[in-house]
Amino acid sequence: MDDDTQTRHALSRLVQGHGLATVEAASGAEALALLESEGEVPLCISDINMPEMDGVTFLREVLRLYPDMAVIMLTGVAEVTTAVECLKIGALDYMSKPVVMEEVHARLDKALEKRNLVLQNRFYQQNLEGRVRELDRRSKQSLINGVQMLVHALEAKDAYTSGHSARVSRYAVKTAVQLGYTGDRLEHIRLGGELHDIGKIGTREDILNKPGPLTPEEFEHVKAHTSLGERILAPFLAESPVVLKIVRSHHERIDGSGFPDGLTAQQIPQEARIVAVVDAFDAMTTDRAYRPPRTPVDAVGELRRCAGTHFDAEVVEAFFRAQAHAATLSTAL
Ligand SMILES: [Fe+2]
Repeated sequence: MDDDTQTRHALSRLVQGHGLATVEAASGAEALALLESEGEVPLCISDINMPEMDGVTFLREVLRLYPDMAVIMLTGVAEVTTAVECLKIGALDYMSKPVVMEEVHARLDKALEKRNLVLQNRFYQQNLEGRVRELDRRSKQSLINGVQMLVHALEAKDAYTSGHSARVSRYAVKTAVQLGYTGDRLEHIRLGGELHDIGKIGTREDILNKPGPLTPEEFEHVKAHTSLGERILAPFLAESPVVLKIVRSHHERIDGSGFPDGLTAQQIPQEARIVAVVDAFDAMTTDRAYRPPRTPVDAVGELRRCAGTHFDAEVVEAFFRAQAHAATLSTAL
């Protein structure tokens, strides 16, 4: 693009001699109109000093519309400062007038090569981001599949926990939402709820399904499901320590009378305090080997009674809020 016809034609022939097709424009406005009707071109050589729209204005406009275009500025001897400004704006190079054949060829090659590199780079980057996302999705999916497998293995062994993990997970998420959890933190709660009892895979079946009360030794054996669960999951969940904490600490109590560590109040991660409440509720309201289910009304009363001693009172309230719409509970609340 040049308002000087002679220079423009000469340059056009030089570019054609380099094996490229050309279109010519005598002004910025004409060039922009041409690009709009004919479509984007890979490379543009533009004069700086022109009437109407000067080269700098044209450069800004053309790069705004076609950010991938390689633009080489044509400069007079006195326009080096402007040429540098053009480079800052995004021109790939500049040539001084009068143009010489060898220089045109060399600059064209260089500019097109630069443009290709930029495009390639962007392509790889976009592709790479897509592939990383896909890998991430797949590894998350295989983690979820592994988790499901463990949960099913436990449920096959212990009929009474069938569906328990899924319900605890659901209740825990609803309660956590009430407490302001979002995103990854909510995902940790979901996973922790699913997995909280996974250590029971290592609990003896005759004890798991014992119809009567447990002896102190048997109770010690059952208690170990918390720390065992953490150990089983640690290799898979190194990046989600909160999930491991939920599994380890879901039987801790506010007053320190829980297990395995006898933690108190704030020492117990809130996520574990949430699972403790909804776990107790679900355990109370479902059939167990050693006792029939209690009614939801009863269970609500029990949670309320133990709020502040066994259970975190704030979490109990959040659980009630989350369940407020459930028909079975509305009368109890
Ligand atoms: Fe448990």
